[in-house]
Amino acid sequence: MTNRIPETVIEEIRQANDIVDVIGDYVQLKKQGRNFVGLCPFHGEKTPSFSVTQEKQIFRCFGCGKGGNVVSFLMEMESYSFYEALQHLAERSGKELPDTGVKKESSLSQESQSILSAYEWVTKLYHHLLRYAKDGKEGYQYLQDRGLEEDTIDAFHLGFAPNAKDFTAEFLEKKGFHRQILVKAGLVSLLNDNSVSDRFRGRVIFPIRNHLGKTVAFGGRALGEDQEPKYLNSPESDLFQKGKLLFNFDLARKYIRKEGQVILFEGYMDVISAFQAEVRNVVATMGTALTEYQAKLLKRYVDTVIICYDGDNAGVEATSKAADLLRTVGCDVKVARIKDGLDPDSFIQTYGKEAFQNEVIKASETFIAFYMRYHRKAYNLNLEGDRIKYIEKMLEQLAMIDSPVEREYYVKELSKEFDISMDTLIGELENYQNRNKKQQDKSEKNRYTNSSSAPVRNKKLLPAFQNAEKKLISYMLQDATIAEKVREELGAAFNVDEHKIIATHLYAFYEDGHSADVSLFIERLTDQKLNQIVIEIAMTPVIDDISDKEINDYIKVIRAQANDVTDIQSLKSQQRMAERQNDPIKAAQIAKQIIEIQKQLKNTN
Ligand code: CTP
Ligand code: MN
Repeated sequence: MTNRIPETVIEEIRQANDIVDVIGDYVQLKKQGRNFVGLCPFHGEKTPSFSVTQEKQIFRCFGCGKGGNVVSFLMEMESYSFYEALQHLAERSGKELPDTGVKKESSLSQESQSILSAYEWVTKLYHHLLRYAKDGKEGYQYLQDRGLEEDTIDAFHLGFAPNAKDFTAEFLEKKGFHRQILVKAGLVSLLNDNSVSDRFRGRVIFPIRNHLGKTVAFGGRALGEDQEPKYLNSPESDLFQKGKLLFNFDLARKYIRKEGQVILFEGYMDVISAFQAEVRNVVATMGTALTEYQAKLLKRYVDTVIICYDGDNAGVEATSKAADLLRTVGCDVKVARIKDGLDPDSFIQTYGKEAFQNEVIKASETFIAFYMRYHRKAYNLNLEGDRIKYIEKMLEQLAMIDSPVEREYYVKELSKEFDISMDTLIGELENYQNRNKKQQDKSEKNRYTNSSSAPVRNKKLLPAFQNAEKKLISYMLQDATIAEKVREELGAAFNVDEHKIIATHLYAFYEDGHSADVSLFIERLTDQKLNQIVIEIAMTPVIDDISDKEINDYIKVIRAQANDVTDIQSLKSQQRMAERQNDPIKAAQIAKQIIEIQKQLKNTN
C-alpha cells in the first residue's frame, strides 16, 4: 500500500502541484466566479458541469458526480495507482519520490510494461544509429534531404532501423526481453521457420508517443519512393490504438493550451515540419480518418481546430468529413488552404516558414467560407435550378451560425454574387432559423423526459435539519475554530449517519494538528461514499462570513430534530406499553401526541 511514503513527502508533492494546472493538462478550464469550469473528462458532455476550486484544491463534476483531489483525479484519468499518481506529480514538479522499497504497483499489465520498456530501448538505439553511426547514415541523409535540422530530429527522437535480419531482435533478447513480447510489440516478426526478423528494416523511424510522452509504436518510412508500403506502422495493441491517439499530442499540449487552438494535420512529416517552422500547437491522425474519440478529445482542450490537410482532392474531401465531425462535437472549425495541391510539409519546404505562418495558418478561412467553396463544385451555377439549390443549401448552413456579424457577412456575399435582395435572403434564412429552433426545443424536451441521460443534479429540497448539517459541515471544513465550537456544543449529534461519521473524522483531523484542508482531508477518508459527500458539501458555495448566531441557529435546528426524534421514540414505546396494559384511552392520547410532534417536524423541515 501507500503508507510507506512519508506523509510529509506526499504533502509536499501535493502542494507543489496546483490542481488547476494539473487538470488543465487534460481539460480546458475557464474561470467562472471563484471556480474553474470545463467539460468533464469522465463522461461525454457539451456544456460544462465539471468544476475545480483552486482554493480548496478539489474538483467535482455535477453531471456524473465524480470528484476528488489532484491525486484522485490522476488515478481516475490515467487509471494510475496511488503511487503512480504521486510519481507523475513528483516528476511534474521536479521532485523525486524517496525510494521507500514500496513495491511499485503499476496499473499496466506486465506485458504492457515490457512493451513500453522495449520501445524505450529501441527508440534510443535507432536514434543513436541515425545520429552517430555509420549504420544509420542513410536515414540521416534522407531526413537532411527533406530539410530537417538536428534539433528537430532530436526533439522527435527520429531514428533509423538498419537493414539487417535480426539486429533488433538480438539487441533486445540480450537485454532480457522474451521473443513473444517483441513479436507482440510489433518490433520483430515471427517467420514460418520459427526464427524472427526485425520488422522495420532499412526504414526511418518516427516514434509515436502517447499523451504521456511514452513511445507506444513506430511509423517506419521507406527511403525510396518505390518501396512498399511507404509507411509501415506497429500493429495496434492495448497501448496503441490509432483511433484514440494523436501524433505529437504530448509535445503540442502546452502550446495548444497557450494558443487556445490546435492545428490538425494528416501526416507525421507535416507535424514535424510545422514544428520546425515554429508552429507548435500541431497534431496529426495516423493514416486514418479523424475519429469521434479524437474529435471529443480535442474539444476538451480547445474551442478552435484548424484543419490543415493536403491541398489535393482527397485532402479536401477528408477536410469536409473532419469538419463535420468536429462541428458536431462543438468545435469551432477553420480550414487552412494549401495551394498547388501541396501537402503542408512540402509547402513549408517550398515557400518557407513565414509563408506558412502568415499565408496558411493565419489566413485560414472560416468553416462557412470553406463550405461555400466546397459545395460549389457539386453544382452547375450556370443553371438556374442548381443556383437555387446551392443558395438554399448555403442559407440552411448559415442559419446555424451564432454570430450575427458573420451571418450577415455571408448573406451579403450571396446577395452580391447571385443578385438577390438581402431582404429575400434574410427572410428565407429566418425560416431555416425557426425550423432549427423548433427542432432544438423538441430535443430539449426529449432530454428532460429521458431520465437516464439527465444529469444527477441534486434538485430536491432537503429538510431543514439536513440542510443545516451540510452547511455546518461546510463551514467546519473551511475553519478549524468553527469545527471546535461545533464539537463542544453538538459533538457527534448529527442526525444523518454519514454526517456523524464525517464530523467525527474531522474533529480527529484537526486534533492531529492539521489546518483546514479539504483536499488532504478527503485523502485521509478512505470511504468512497463519505468522500463524495464531503466533496459535494465542499463544492456547494456558502457565504464566507458567517456569524456565531448563524452557527448557533444551525446547531439549534439539528438539536431540535434530534430531540423530536427521541421524543417520538420514547412516546412510541409508552404507547406500546399502554396497549399491552389494555389502556386504549392512554394509548390514543399518546398517539395524538405523536401526531402533533410529527406535524411540527414536518412544518419545520
Ligand atoms: N500512412 C500510413 N501508411 C501508409 C501511408 C500513409 O500509415 N502506407 C499515414 C502516415 O501516418 C502518414 C499519413 O498517413 O503520415 C499521411 O500519408 P501521406 O500524405 O501519404 O504521407 P506523408 O505524411 O505526406 O509522408 P511523406 O511526406 O513522407 O510522403
Ligand atoms: Mn508529405
